[in-house]
Amino acid sequence: MISLGIIGTNWITEQFIKATDETKTFALTNVYSRTEAKAESLIEDLKKKDIDISTDLTAFFKKDFDTVYIASPNGLHFAQAKQALENGKNVIVEKPSTSTIKEFSLLDDLAHKNGLYLFEAARHIHEPIFKKIEEIVDKNREKLSGASFSYMKYSSRYDAYLAGKNPNIFTTKFSGGALYDLGVYTVYDAVVLFGQPEKVDYDAEFLASGVDGSGALTLKYPDFDVNIIIGKTKNSYMSSEIYFGRDTLLLDNGGDISHLDWADDNKNITDVPALKAENPMDSEASEFARIMTEKDQATYDKLLKYARTVNRILEQARTSAGIVFDADEEK
Ligand SMILES: NC(=O)c1ccc[n+]([C@@H]2O[C@H](COP(=O)([O-])OP(=O)(O)OC[C@H]3O[C@@H](n4cnc5c(N)ncnc54)[C@H](OP(=O)(O)O)[C@@H]3O)[C@@H](O)[C@H]2O)c1
Repeated sequence: MISLGIIGTNWITEQFIKATDETKTFALTNVYSRTEAKAESLIEDLKKKDIDISTDLTAFFKKDFDTVYIASPNGLHFAQAKQALENGKNVIVEKPSTSTIKEFSLLDDLAHKNGLYLFEAARHIHEPIFKKIEEIVDKNREKLSGASFSYMKYSSRYDAYLAGKNPNIFTTKFSGGALYDLGVYTVYDAVVLFGQPEKVDYDAEFLASGVDGSGALTLKYPDFDVNIIIGKTKNSYMSSEIYFGRDTLLLDNGGDISHLDWADDNKNITDVPALKAENPMDSEASEFARIMTEKDQATYDKLLKYARTVNRILEQARTSAGIVFDADEEK
């Protein structure tokens, strides 16, 4: 069994623990929260017993567990992942794992030096429906002529932002905004399916807090462009599309993909059967467990390369738009 510690007590942690339970390989043993009551409430919701609680991060990392899952605000990922790796823990860190490519390289080096795993939890690329998209792109790669992805969802926290509160996800302190929160999924789409682009350009619609509420991202490849629309301040129902000359693969969403269709030149649209698990984190949890238990270095290296490329693109994109994070000052 892989003993698991967690940081962060929001709903996403609960969802991830339920996914790790499905693997029968992970066992939750340790919880860190700034408040004991929140840790206790999460443990109770999950119906777990004999879980160790820490409210001090240094004490938490001294405890005896193998792997930590970090689901704190983005701006805290780097320092917490670094501390974990320095204390001999494998790291599964929520997307995006870092605020700058320099931070990513430091974590990557540290994990390598200490013989530990560093996973970025990009859940959707592990799902069967994404594997189906990869299969279709590979089969039709000669005809590939571009893509457009859209992931624009009105955030429940935008109301709090408009009310003058300061939710983490709309701050530069915690490396928030549409690109880092939702754009990261669509950048993963492009990197996994098409590789590294030659040029990155992001046009952001700024909020007064300094982050992007929404924006348009262009990734230029030698033979085609990928156009991406992302946002947290409005809802879009546009489908995402991958173009193969006369034919088109339609995705119902760029980041939370649950349905695929194939459209031909005669406007015949046919359903592409693909599996979608109820818990979208099941696939990544079982894949991380498999890689660690089977020591599948080739797949691990591939995932790390994706994560490095994605984190580089995110930084290039926000730099091109003029988005500055507090983490940039520490460069
Ligand atoms: N993969 C997915 O589908 C998915 C979905 C949602 C979010 N995420 C990712 O999960 C991460 C967390 O997102 P979230 O929306 O849950 O963030 P959040 O609500 O702002 O914070 C998550 C947790 O971090 C701790 N925290 C909050 N503010 C803090 C502060 N100022 N200092 C120290 N700790 C603080 C809290 O735990 P305690 O109060 O217990 O300390 C909180 O439960 C992000 O990286 C996000 O991108 C992923």
